[in-house]
Amino acid sequence: MNKERILVIGACGQIGVELTLALRKKFGNDTVVASDLREENPLLKGTGPYVALDVMNKEMLHVMVIRQNITRIYLLAAILSATGEKNPNLAWSLNMQSLLNVLEIARDENVHKIFWPSSIAVFGPSSPKVQCPQQTIIEPVTVYGISKYAGEFWCNYYHQRYGVDVRSIRYPGLISYKSQPGGGTTDYAVEIFYDAKEKKNYECFLKEDTYLPMMYMPDAIRATIELMEAPAERLTVRTSYNIHGMSFSPKEVSAEIQKHIKDFRISYAPDYRQPIAESWPQSIDDSVARNDWGWKPEYDLAAMTEDMLRNIK
Ligand code: NAD
Ligand code: SER
Repeated sequence: MNKERILVIGACGQIGVELTLALRKKFGNDTVVASDLREENPLLKGTGPYVALDVMNKEMLHVMVIRQNITRIYLLAAILSATGEKNPNLAWSLNMQSLLNVLEIARDENVHKIFWPSSIAVFGPSSPKVQCPQQTIIEPVTVYGISKYAGEFWCNYYHQRYGVDVRSIRYPGLISYKSQPGGGTTDYAVEIFYDAKEKKNYECFLKEDTYLPMMYMPDAIRATIELMEAPAERLTVRTSYNIHGMSFSPKEVSAEIQKHIKDFRISYAPDYRQPIAESWPQSIDDSVARNDWGWKPEYDLAAMTEDMLRNIK
């Protein structure tokens, strides 16, 4: 009998919509309670329970966890890198307090598993640029990166000290077509596909040769589910796992799009997001995730581009 009762916080965001739908497919629609500050996303409507929830309101969250008999939480609410630089205090406050609220409630109640994503943004200019390892110099320069790095160590602390089974992935930039990205530096790699289809041109806010680690959403969702299903004794990392999908620059993805849309043109107007991108690695070494829980990406640049262009309406 399936006794899980799952809460997704931030379910209407870029990852939340697809993760909620995938979890409902796996565990059953009524098992997965979607929640967000925003109105319910149209793609979630009619697929399962939805509640309005501010994760910063710890009492309300606590009552909900008890009333709904929640056993597992996926915490996706956060302010991402680009928006975070516009409002550092808000980013720090939401990204940290939401995690601490969830960890404390999990410790005190019957929540036996938590997923909380970190990011490649934990790495900074002093980290290796190519094949950045799991353990290396980590000196983030954005408030988002600082909050993710601190969050990783809170996860590790709650696991070591209280036995909370919290698991985490350092997602690369995620590319998807179901729900819009929420204010990150890697958002160009989503926008470019929409503009290519609608206008046949795109003005990119990063320089043409800015390589970043990226991943197609189906791989990210699968990674999340696989990590959460992995036997606890296999997991050697309780901060956050590096995972890698692909690495490309704006010039490379635009050349790939041109294979499908011949008259597509890209121009460049780098802005405040360029230094953020330059502070991050270009590619990630994910050998620890591969060894521990069998992680392996499926999509490369060509397969992702073809699928994005086929699915964007
Ligand atoms: P998003 O901005 O698209 O979605 C976040 C959701 O959280 C939004 O729907 C928002 O309304 C909700 N939210 C914000 N404040 C809230 C609050 N107080 N209470 C409840 N809900 C609230 O973000 P995303 O891209 O889906 O990212 C989800 C997680 O994955 C974040 O932790 C992010 O840092 C991490 N991540 C994302 C990427 C990426 O490329 N998308 C890469 C690395 C890590
Ligand atoms: N995609 C995210 C961002 O650009 C990386 O965490 O902020």
